[in-house]
Amino acid sequence: MTRPVVIDTDPGCDDALALLLALERSELDLVGLTTSHGNTAVDATTTNARSILELTDRTDVPIAKGADRPLAVDLQTAEHIHGSDGIRGPLPEPTEATRPVDTHAATFIVEQARAHEGELTLAALAPLTNVALALALEPDLPELLDELVLMGGAAFSPGNVTQLAEANFHSDPHAAHRVVRDLDPTIVGLDVTKHATLPSEWVDSIPRDDPLGRSINEWLTYYSAEHLERYDIDSAPIHDALVIAALVDDVLETDPFYMEVGTDSDLAQGALVCDPNDVTGNEPNGTVAVDADYERYRDLFVETIDRFVAETIH
Ligand code: BDR
Ligand code: CA
Repeated sequence: MTRPVVIDTDPGCDDALALLLALERSELDLVGLTTSHGNTAVDATTTNARSILELTDRTDVPIAKGADRPLAVDLQTAEHIHGSDGIRGPLPEPTEATRPVDTHAATFIVEQARAHEGELTLAALAPLTNVALALALEPDLPELLDELVLMGGAAFSPGNVTQLAEANFHSDPHAAHRVVRDLDPTIVGLDVTKHATLPSEWVDSIPRDDPLGRSINEWLTYYSAEHLERYDIDSAPIHDALVIAALVDDVLETDPFYMEVGTDSDLAQGALVCDPNDVTGNEPNGTVAVDADYERYRDLFVETIDRFVAETIH
């Protein structure tokens, strides 16, 4: 049985690798991509998503372009990490074959949730603006979806933008607040994704004499040396790919929590706050990944990308 999936994304180097995983895994039926502002402006994340589908010959997957800004705070992007176009490496110019559908991402999510009632997985790898807008359009979205799995937040470890906040939550804290409150998410945050690195010998083994191989190499090494040193890690964490791995294999350990996202002060903006001590007495409103089987994740990642490369590069 394959599960229908919509991926909301802002490619983004780690998004690009997550998309390769999703495209290659037969357990997943990728029924569409929706794009968001995030790592760069939405025009460029949409171009990047289209280019990835062209590069991998998957122009059959529809793309819906989404929000160009957060709900209430100013746009903030991350070209300093992902590259000047929001992604590193060579990419083909998109053609007519990947022209976005004539529907906003939020509407597209609602349409797909209705078309696959009770079965659709929404994998959110970007600021949550499109998802919050979809919920505003369709209050029954929680019942229509099978599952929302998202990359965002840092519940028990430091953030990567502020001490408390991870980039996707920090970029649109009001959207994250609404989604966490009402959509019963499975949250795959920095607590686990910061360890989702790949062995450098394997990275070095990917052929660089082909456009796809070159792009994969760039995407796998998108963190600068200073960045790696700051986080005390020796290769780039591929945050978003852990979400896709969790859709096809049992790689996460999760716990239910009541939680909230901070919206109203600079230092707490986008902070994901869990209530493990049950101070509020509120029922859990989602689950948070507290640990992962990183070896299993790495095996799945390496096997899937190796297969993709072998099939595509001749
Ligand atoms: C998240 O922010 C983005 O820069 C990445 O693509 C990932 O989704 C990590 O904090
Ligand atoms: Ca992302």
